[in-house]
Amino acid sequence: MSQKKIALVTGSSGFLGKSVANRLLGEGFTVVGTVRTPNDTLDFEGHPSFERYTIDVSNESEISRLMDYISQNYGQVDFAALLVGGFVMGTLAETSQKDLEKMYRLNFLTAYLCCQKLYAQMSDQGGHIVLVGARPALDPSAAAAMVSYSLSKSLLFQLEEIINAKSTETGVRCSVIVPSVLDTPPNRESMPDANFNDWVTPEQVAETISFLASTDSAPLRQTVLKLYGNA
Ligand SMILES: NC(=O)c1ccc[n+]([C@@H]2O[C@H](COP(=O)([O-])OP(=O)(O)OC[C@H]3O[C@@H](n4cnc5c(N)ncnc54)[C@H](OP(=O)(O)O)[C@@H]3O)[C@@H](O)[C@H]2O)c1
Repeated sequence: MSQKKIALVTGSSGFLGKSVANRLLGEGFTVVGTVRTPNDTLDFEGHPSFERYTIDVSNESEISRLMDYISQNYGQVDFAALLVGGFVMGTLAETSQKDLEKMYRLNFLTAYLCCQKLYAQMSDQGGHIVLVGARPALDPSAAAAMVSYSLSKSLLFQLEEIINAKSTETGVRCSVIVPSVLDTPPNRESMPDANFNDWVTPEQVAETISFLASTDSAPLRQTVLKLYGNA
């Protein structure tokens, strides 16, 4: 078993996921990074402390297999950044059942299934789980234009509270980071007139997540961090 701390990063081929995995590798973690598409290329693929695991994280039995694999090969997960998620626009009038179910599955179920298995495993010796919320989930006026996205992300804040309610007994902490707009190529393409300097970069968010992964974050409880930049 590895003596290094183990981090699980879901969505490690995404814009935020790549930065977070890279940063945690730099901090000395062994990182198991999930990807959905087997042929996604990752800059840190050859890093000796990185292992790619191809999985659909909305599939419960696949998550069970992943957790069994990690415990057999590495031991317990110390830190998890659950970054899988996605976005769709739509007002109340425009949002269909299909949209709701899609966003629920992508933003909530993917995190819930990982949390459930991590919680059981971490309850032996503690651990820290980080979820990614979204600003409109905390701001109804912004949510009005992206209803299914905001509703699905808002459940993560409740999940965080449920996990934290027992954290003095279980040693399992949960934090939520809330970026405004990430400075990514798709966002630049869809909002070409925005001031990109107002946004937060994936690297800035990764730096915050690496702080949460560090022993310096030990006193933090029920943490919701808003990384809004100037947006
Ligand atoms: N971008 C923003 O402005 C922004 C703002 C606030 C919050 N966030 C949140 O931050 C997180 C990361 O955002 P991002 O912009 O980095 O997103 P991204 O680039 O689209 O990355 C999402 C990753 O999740 C993976 N994924 C999606 N569904 C999956 C599934 N069922 N099983 C396994 N992997 C799956 C994707 O893999 P594939 O590429 O193979 O589909 C991709 O690697 C998300 O939770 C997002 O909601 C983003």
